[in-house]
Amino acid sequence: MKIAIVLGTRPEIIKTASIIDEIKLRGLDLLLIHTGQHYDHEMSDQFFLDLELPAPNYNINVGSGKHGEQTALMIKGIEEVLIDEKPDIVLVQGDTNAVLSGALAASKLHIPVGHVEAGLRSFDETMPEEINRKVADACSKLYFAPTEQSAVYLSLEAINRNKIFITGNTIVDACFRNLEIAKKKLSDNNLIEFEKINKENMENGSSLKLNDLDNILTLTLHRAENVDNKERLNNIIEALAELSQLDIVFPIHPRTKKTLENFGLYSKLANLKHVHLIKPVGYLDFLLVLSKSAIILTDSGGIQEEAITLDIPVLTLRYNTERPETIVAGGNYLVGTDKEKIVEKAKLILNDEEFRNNMKNAINPYGDGDSGKKTVDIIVNSYEKDELKIEAPDDVMTSFSTEIIAIDEDITVLDYEKKYNGNVKVVYNNSNDINSMEFPTDDLNLKNKFVIFDRFKN
Ligand code: UD1
Ligand code: UDP
Repeated sequence: MKIAIVLGTRPEIIKTASIIDEIKLRGLDLLLIHTGQHYDHEMSDQFFLDLELPAPNYNINVGSGKHGEQTALMIKGIEEVLIDEKPDIVLVQGDTNAVLSGALAASKLHIPVGHVEAGLRSFDETMPEEINRKVADACSKLYFAPTEQSAVYLSLEAINRNKIFITGNTIVDACFRNLEIAKKKLSDNNLIEFEKINKENMENGSSLKLNDLDNILTLTLHRAENVDNKERLNNIIEALAELSQLDIVFPIHPRTKKTLENFGLYSKLANLKHVHLIKPVGYLDFLLVLSKSAIILTDSGGIQEEAITLDIPVLTLRYNTERPETIVAGGNYLVGTDKEKIVEKAKLILNDEEFRNNMKNAINPYGDGDSGKKTVDIIVNSYEKDELKIEAPDDVMTSFSTEIIAIDEDITVLDYEKKYNGNVKVVYNNSNDINSMEFPTDDLNLKNKFVIFDRFKN
């Protein structure tokens, strides 16, 4: 079996690493296609080294550009590779332009797409990532949903529940495996240093030693809606100025570095003595900084997940999140880019032990670190059962009616579907509560629940 993976940016390399490991462990054929969306050493190659991943078989070398142009070039490049290589499935992970391109190119060639981290929704149509993840889900054959919430969203969008698998998030695999390796690196070297960005002219400067830092706040910032907005960037810098009791470690994403300069905000940030500007760091070193942090301040998707995995309180510099599970669990607060909110919540974490501990004790909703294994198990199983093929149907389609049914039978989802000839789409625990939805797994008992049911008419 040949499994292709399309990736293009830093988080995709990190989050597909455990899947790549599993594919290799089983001796399956791996085809790695890098789109080249991220290309700086510290945004791409560094992660292949840290995570000991094989070099990509192809690099489309798309580079940076406007969305349409970049996406079009990626689709063209990926399509050529897929026509030559004919993989049995193409995996994409997350919500970047690489995911959009990989999913479109493969599905148009009738190659099944597996979407890893499917079903996330921020409901914010201005985010390029929201469009990408919805289009990728529209093109997919197998859906690897990290949580029940994301599985329910897919189910509500009329995706057959048999194609949706709740696997946890591969970020937990990456965190658990690599934190141990990182700690060993620290104990072997007893010194972790980062390349500082010289504050005067943003050239690379001297080094910053992790051991010299005390009360760390790790900051990352790259989301388009924040860093392309001068007022929001300025608010964040003003909040940082108020938090001078902390050592703020800020590995700057290249996009953010550019916009800080363009908006003339760089020197305002650089003048803050407690803010340490460094180049983006490799995964092992970044995990060490995170794990030593008192607070994480970020607009990153993956770092919201890592924070709750590592039990570090996180404040998210956004007005919405497609990771609401972290908020419900109590490990994450949305602070937008509001100076007062950022400072208030950071000070609560620092000074209020109960508040801090409640955040640290939030239960991780993203699984136990075996998401990569579960994902590859499902792919292989579907392949062996010949369920991956995309072919024109020979049968005339079955029509169906969609009904809402209150169930009083003691019966599982699977038995109900067999008995009444249809598909259960969503289960509600309580008819008065729209939020009481459950994902219909085969063995879920439906007694006293409400279902949305597609009843086949034949
Ligand atoms: C992209 C993803 C975003 C993801 C992020 C991870 C899209 C639409 N966005 O955002 O979802 O969270 O990656 O970090 O796919 N640049 C460099 N060197 C590089 C890469 C980028 O200098 O190696 C600069 C270029 O000026 C480029 C800018 O960063 O124009 C933005 O890069 P781009 O890949 O378009 O978007 P990201 O902000 O990185
Ligand atoms: N990360 C890293 N070094 C850094 C900043 C981030 O290794 O200097 C890792 C981080 O641990 C996480 C991933 O990069 O796993 C998140 O990437 P990013 O924030 O760029 O993208 P997003 O998750 O928002 O798509």
